[in-house]
Amino acid sequence: MQVIIAADYEDMSDRAAAIVIEAVRRKPDIVLGLATGSTPEGLYARLVAAHQEDGLDFSRVVTFNLDEYVDLPPDHPQSYRYFMNEKLFDHVNIDKANTHVPNGMAECLSDECARYEQMLLDAGGIDLQVLGIGRDGHIAFNEPGTALHSPTHIAALTPETIEDNSRFFDNSEDVPRFAITMGVGSITHARRCLLLTSGESKAPAARAAIEGPVTSMVTGSALQMHSSTVAIVDAAAAAKLDRIDYYRWQQENWDRIAERL
Ligand code: F6R
Repeated sequence: MQVIIAADYEDMSDRAAAIVIEAVRRKPDIVLGLATGSTPEGLYARLVAAHQEDGLDFSRVVTFNLDEYVDLPPDHPQSYRYFMNEKLFDHVNIDKANTHVPNGMAECLSDECARYEQMLLDAGGIDLQVLGIGRDGHIAFNEPGTALHSPTHIAALTPETIEDNSRFFDNSEDVPRFAITMGVGSITHARRCLLLTSGESKAPAARAAIEGPVTSMVTGSALQMHSSTVAIVDAAAAAKLDRIDYYRWQQENWDRIAERL
């Protein structure tokens, strides 16, 4: 895993946007895996600006979101479909038919999981997967204990995640208890992963995912087994990393040969 230490949230978002913009320019029909939550909001704002100010073309881009709450309709302001429309899709020239979010309203949830996994395969797999991380080390809604080879499945959210996500709802009782989520296996099939981590509250999760043992108790740690993951960690989230000086040193050295890569 390549670890980049960013100064703060804005710097993390700038660096993430540079990677995604470059990837879209190189491959205009790229398949992007997208996350919701507070962490990628700065990235999405920069992608919108890149479209509106520099003409970044999303017309052939295909997207798959990581997850969706069970029983929240797409027009519910806290649904992940609503979030994506509001933060990104409504402001760029993407074809909405090319944007995929699991259907949390599906009558048969297991059929929906199988359908979503098949769509990922049919699209040729994800080229670049954007990820945030939960305080318990989850990626997507793969809570501690989820199999590291899991495909898209139904997840029961932990009380900690329900509490964290209650900030978007009137109260924690309103937070759905279940979600459809891409599995750790679906995520690690992506050709490249981009893990974004910001803020002091994420420092233990960043440490566990990046430097801890690979364990289903911290599903983000599965990224250590992935051959092409970049983690951009801001200084507050990096506070507990043992090898922070090495990551900084390494970054300076990479920069020296950047043009030859
Ligand atoms: C959201 C998702 C989650 C979040 C994580 C961090 O699609 O997959 O894993 O990335 O819960 O959320 P924030 O960014 O709100 O701290």
